[in-house]
Amino acid sequence: MKVTLEDIKQKPMPKHIAVIMDGNGRWAKSRGLLRTAGHRMGVQALKNLVLALDELDIHYVTVYAFSTENWKRPADEVNTLMELIVEFLDKELDYMHEKGVRIHPIGDISRLTGKTYDKIVAAQEKTKDNTNIILNVALNYGGRQEIVRAAKNICADVQSGRLAMDDIDEALFGSYLYTAGQPDPDLLIRPSGELRVSNFLLWQIAYTEFWCTNILWPDFGKEHLWQAIWEYQNRDRRYGGLTK
Ligand code: FPP
Repeated sequence: MKVTLEDIKQKPMPKHIAVIMDGNGRWAKSRGLLRTAGHRMGVQALKNLVLALDELDIHYVTVYAFSTENWKRPADEVNTLMELIVEFLDKELDYMHEKGVRIHPIGDISRLTGKTYDKIVAAQEKTKDNTNIILNVALNYGGRQEIVRAAKNICADVQSGRLAMDDIDEALFGSYLYTAGQPDPDLLIRPSGELRVSNFLLWQIAYTEFWCTNILWPDFGKEHLWQAIWEYQNRDRRYGGLTK
C-alpha cells in the first residue's frame, strides 16, 4: 500500500522520531563513487527529513550523525564528515532558523574539530528559542557514554549535597541526559538493512517502536517517512501491559 499524507494525518503522530542515518557508504559504492559522496547525499536526505517533518505535527527528531566509534574511520572520511556539517550549517542554517528548527547537539562536542565545534555552538545559540522542530544532532555521541556521564553528574550532585540518594529515580536520571525535558522517541527508523541499535539512545529507546528498512539513507524520502509513521500508527504499544 502506498501511504499518503492524508492517511497518516488520521491518527496520532509519534511525538519524537529517531533516525540512524546509515548506508551512505554502500549507496556511494554501488554507484562507483567515493564514500564521501554518499555522506553528501545523506546530508540532503537529512534536509528532506526536516522539511517532511515540518508538514507534520512532529516536533522532536534525533539523528545519529557521528558516533563515539566513528573516530575509527580513516581520517579523510572523518574530516569530510566534519566539513559537511560546517557546509550544511553555512548553507542551511538561515533556512532552518526560518522554519523554526532548533539545532541541539547531543554528545561530547568538545572533541570535534575547532571549526565544526564553533559552527555547531553558534547554530545552537542562534536557534535556541525555536520550538517548531527540535533537531537533536548526535555528534561524538554514544549511548553508554551518555549514561556514564549522567551517572557521574548525579554522583557529583549527591556528593555536593545538591541531591539526596533518595531523589534518584528514572525521571531524575532522564533529566541528566542530553535529551532532558524531551519525550522519549516513539519511533526509531533504521535504514540500510541493519538490525542493531549501535549504541544509540540506549536509555531513551526502552519502549520505542523500531522500523527497519533496506532503503539506504541517501535514498530515504518523505514517502518512506510516511510509510514508517503509518506502520507505527498501526502497532499495538503495550508498554509491558495488555491491549486495552
Ligand atoms: C553511516 O553510513 C553514516 C554516518 C556514519 C554519517 C552520517 C552523517 C551524515 C548523513 C552527515 C551529517 C551531517 C549533518 C549536517 C548533521 P555508513 O558510512 O556507515 O554507510 P555504510 O554502512 O553503507 O558504509
